[in-house]
Amino acid sequence: PSSEPNHDSLSSLTLDTQSLQNQIDELATFSDSPPPSVTRVLYTDKDVAARRYIKNLMGLAGLSVREDTIGNIFGRWDGYEPELAAVGTGSHIDAIPYSGKYDGVVGVLGAIEAINVLKKAGFKPKRSLEVIMFTSEEPTRFGISCLGSRLIAGSDTLEKALKNTYDSQNVSFSDAAKSAGYVRDNDDLSGVLLKYGTYSGFVELHIEQGPILEAEGIPIGIVTAIAAPASIKVDFEGEGGHAGAALMPNRNDAGLAAAELALALERHVLESGSIDTVGTVGILDLHPRAVNSIPSKAHVEIDTRDINETRRNIVVEKIHQSAVEIAKKRKVRLSGFEIVNQDPPALADKKVIEAMEASSRELNLDYKLMVSRAYHDSLFMARVSPMGMIFIPCYKGYSHKPEEYAAPKDLANGVKVLALTLAKLSVS
Ligand code: GLV
Ligand code: MN
Ligand code: MN
Ligand code: MN
Repeated sequence: PSSEPNHDSLSSLTLDTQSLQNQIDELATFSDSPPPSVTRVLYTDKDVAARRYIKNLMGLAGLSVREDTIGNIFGRWDGYEPELAAVGTGSHIDAIPYSGKYDGVVGVLGAIEAINVLKKAGFKPKRSLEVIMFTSEEPTRFGISCLGSRLIAGSDTLEKALKNTYDSQNVSFSDAAKSAGYVRDNDDLSGVLLKYGTYSGFVELHIEQGPILEAEGIPIGIVTAIAAPASIKVDFEGEGGHAGAALMPNRNDAGLAAAELALALERHVLESGSIDTVGTVGILDLHPRAVNSIPSKAHVEIDTRDINETRRNIVVEKIHQSAVEIAKKRKVRLSGFEIVNQDPPALADKKVIEAMEASSRELNLDYKLMVSRAYHDSLFMARVSPMGMIFIPCYKGYSHKPEEYAAPKDLANGVKVLALTLAKLSVS
């Protein structure tokens, strides 16, 4: 083989599929729920151990590792023109309760393996290549999704809000962060921000989390846009009381208001007329949560998404109207209505898409252009860098549950397309 380190010689990439699979399996053992499920929540002991595991692998791959104050981890391979903007790649390793071992993980371990592959092929990057493990893509602990990438993209309101953010056990964000070794002595979170131009391109490898690629037998998905999520917290309060003694006409049941709102959400989503509009009530907490007590408080958390921002915003508006009307009708107090986030969709960059397409073609892999219905750190990286995403098929489209699975062959294909895409972006 030619020793010429150019990227024309990269079509025979050799990948250690077995060691990648072993790493995926090993990372899955850092979990707070029994296998095959994975639960790995921000700043817990398991999260900290998993972070150590990632930093170690980055080191073994010869990357220089740095962490920012919120715990985003960066592993850099210096290019031969290190003053140029780097090319970024990465994803997350936090896992929602009772989920699987591939969501996010594939884009972090796969990125490190892509670097190993390029090194073995003798490739020398012109722009530096940087693997990023983002802090808390999932909103599990503090209700904020894509925490690390949001702060990288810059959010004053989030920085302020974090000073007053608590988890469900009343642990403050800063105490949780400190216990994991981050946000020390009131570090300024604005240091997390990266300015536009830090990266010339950013690519994230991820399982599709939908059924299309598997059903159509296509090994690679190239993402053109990421759907826009909104999330809302609603609180109702009533008088509560004795479940036997308080007669029905005299009640104002906060739990029923919440139940009615959940059904109203479903109606509003279906009224959009588009299959692309979705809505979920994933959290519904009742207080005092006793079988013989009328709920005096109900807390509802709503997730609604669409690839069309206007349509999604109409749903958000209708949810608000419904919450007000239901409270009035049921004589409960609407004590909280907070739009936690209402993010705009992101488009992938043409140049990055072209690099992913060319890479797939060179590897003789069929690909499909598609929309991401799940959100990703790439949604926020798109604000500071041209962005693209590579999807691989996953079993029945399962995700956010223990049955999540991607075949070794599909993992290998995804890593190869990623490696070649990084190589192309690194010299362009
Ligand atoms: C995050 O994983 C999401 O898309 O819900
Ligand atoms: Mn997820
Ligand atoms: Mn994910
Ligand atoms: Mn996601």
